[in-house]
Amino acid sequence: MRVSAIDKPENPAVAESAFLKACRREPVPHTPVWFMRQAGRSLPEYLKVREGIPMLESCMRPELVTEITLQPVRRHGVDAAIYFSDIVVPLKAIGVDLDIKPGVGPVVEQPIRSRADLERLRDLTPEDVSYVTEAIRMLTAELGPTPLIGFAGAPFTLASYLVEGGPSKNHEHTKALMYGDPELWADLLDRLAGITAAFLKVQIEAGASAVQLFDSWVGALAPADYRRSVMPASKKVFEAVAPYDVPRIHFGVGTGELLGLMGEAGADVVGVDWRVPLDEAVRRVGPGKALQGNLDPAVLFSSREAVETKTREVLDAAAGLEGHIFNLGHGVLPTTDPGALTRLTEYVHEQTAR
Ligand code: CP3
Repeated sequence: MRVSAIDKPENPAVAESAFLKACRREPVPHTPVWFMRQAGRSLPEYLKVREGIPMLESCMRPELVTEITLQPVRRHGVDAAIYFSDIVVPLKAIGVDLDIKPGVGPVVEQPIRSRADLERLRDLTPEDVSYVTEAIRMLTAELGPTPLIGFAGAPFTLASYLVEGGPSKNHEHTKALMYGDPELWADLLDRLAGITAAFLKVQIEAGASAVQLFDSWVGALAPADYRRSVMPASKKVFEAVAPYDVPRIHFGVGTGELLGLMGEAGADVVGVDWRVPLDEAVRRVGPGKALQGNLDPAVLFSSREAVETKTREVLDAAAGLEGHIFNLGHGVLPTTDPGALTRLTEYVHEQTAR
């Protein structure tokens, strides 16, 4: 059994799972599979249990969170579970006036654009999210040997929602603040890094075996701006959880030009979207890190043969890697046929059985 720098509850079989072995770049019995946004979305059993319960409220009900997190593990036989929540949950927990609007996403009543606005972001304590601790304890008991991935939004992606006031295509207010008031921007990202780190620590201490930092929208930045204005905050998050010795996954969309820097920020595993083949991604990331990805989620709308051909391409590109976790290049699309995900999981397991 592995001993961590900081004690955390863990089933010994979890440490030997294919998923955690791949994160550590150790030999695996088969390539592990999980899907970003595997819980929720189109699963009929999810729609049923969520009926009439608003998204943010669902995240605060430990029994419901446990059930929803387990659903894709039962149905698809994936190698890891991801905690059912949302990236804005810690912001809601510290009192930011936000809501998740159906069909839109997170909406912030009063966007954060000034020094005075920044004062509304206080630190997060474990008591603010006691329902997360409770849910993760229930979950790890139910999951047995299957590892649980905790997650959080990265400072840039959270800042984008806070500064824009909601989902944004061009991130214009966010960039205006970043370029126009670098000092306020740095303070905002630093504060978000503290909140994010605290939120990840709660999840690890409750029993999460790995964490993923979603910087979904950071691909909007050029590498020099990423290095100057975002990397210090993301680095702070990764450094804060380093003593726990759990794998740290870092993912964003459209980040082909940023892959090296995102690894440098402190990830053990770099998530890759579908635009960069994994054999090229490994050159950009450099040695010493595992890769996660990267089938285009839209491929799942094509024929079974086409899915298999495209999956084979991903596996062939990953053949020389030390440490590959199979995933989609971004989240499961909401109208995906759940059967296609089950078949894909089986196909990857079959093709990579050693
Ligand atoms: O997709 C990503 O890039 C992952 C990071 C991310 C999450 N939420 C994680 C998440 C992002 C960028 C968000 C913001 C968000 N929250 C959006 C996107 C809006 C935009 O800007 O385009 C939306 C629609 C929400 C609200 C939300 N989050 C709903 C309605 C649900 C439940 C059902 C569903 O659609 O999945 C979530 C759950 C959620 N958000 C999960 C995660 C990791 C848990 C589900 C899972 O991983 O299986």
